[in-house]
Amino acid sequence: MLVLGIESSCDETGVALYDTDAGLLAHQLHTQMAMHAEYGGVVPELASRDHIRRVIPLTRACLAEAGKTLQDLSAIAFTEGPGLGGALLVGASVANALAFGLNIPVIGVHHLEGHLLSPLLADPRPEFPFVALLVSGGHTQLMAVRGIGDYEILGETLDDAAGEAFDKTAKLLGLDYPGGPTLSRLAESGDPERFTLPRPMLNSPDLDMSFSGLKTAVLMRVKAIEAEQGALDDTARNDVCRAFQEAIVEVLVKKSLKALKQTGMKRLVVAGGVGANRQLRAALDLAASRRGLAVFYPPLALCTDNGAMIAFAGAMRVAQARATGAYTVQPRWNLASLPAL
Ligand code: KG4
Ligand code: ZN
Repeated sequence: MLVLGIESSCDETGVALYDTDAGLLAHQLHTQMAMHAEYGGVVPELASRDHIRRVIPLTRACLAEAGKTLQDLSAIAFTEGPGLGGALLVGASVANALAFGLNIPVIGVHHLEGHLLSPLLADPRPEFPFVALLVSGGHTQLMAVRGIGDYEILGETLDDAAGEAFDKTAKLLGLDYPGGPTLSRLAESGDPERFTLPRPMLNSPDLDMSFSGLKTAVLMRVKAIEAEQGALDDTARNDVCRAFQEAIVEVLVKKSLKALKQTGMKRLVVAGGVGANRQLRAALDLAASRRGLAVFYPPLALCTDNGAMIAFAGAMRVAQARATGAYTVQPRWNLASLPAL
């Protein structure tokens, strides 16, 4: 069975082909980062218009890469939500129109389920059950995953998501949008000992987290440095980046270990854009190996938004595919409300 997946929930147009026998055959991505950079953040209307421009050429490129034609498709999956309404509608419209023309079913995929299942595209792939640490730009959640659609939220951020904290902190440090990956690169050459920032809710008895105070702590620290030595130089900036990253990583690692202990599970799956963070990966790998636990990640290129995870999640849910007709998108959509398989 060959499934075309279309992702258009935010600022990346992703298209991919997943074959249930042969695996991932092709994936194509266009990122709108450069376009949004001059505004310092995603402009929803521009995002929608750009998805319209990209989605058909990317679909053609995908089919060519895999040596397939539209007639070879068995079903089409698209991101139904959560995300930007207009951006989601582009993927939904193209998926439904194509499926209608080809007389094949469509599957609306939950974007976070796509992220959550993306480590299953790696080798080795985790067995169920596992604890999932979902760390994206919009969400930070710990989940008990017992099967596809069997998701229990164990804890989550009470305010900013980890990715959001990276991006907002990067912005206040004057780094270009999207700042998260840049901040993490600068942190690598920073001194982990020079500054210490608070670890919000590190020792709270639950599995919830809070990251919004960190950017304020960074701002205070920057002001203190400026009062002491004048403008922030590169060394001090990198040291602040490092202190920020140390704090986020420590909270994420500690809460993940706690979730594993609480559920008695032995496997941790990390998904979402922040899962690309090298320091987070190294810290999780070290903590897990000391305790005989296993950590799984998606292939690095599939950590951030992409069509492959949508094609894959669509293939897993192909039994729930529907005939085309009226369709909708869900800008807000609770992952725990999905039906189990
Ligand atoms: O999963 P994703 O592509 O989009 C959402 O669904 O939100 O995640 C994007 C987020 C952004 O906040 C970005 O700054 C963050 O992931 N991110 C990183 C890194 N790469 C991407 N954060 C920290 N370190 C990275 N290397
Ligand atoms: Zn995402």
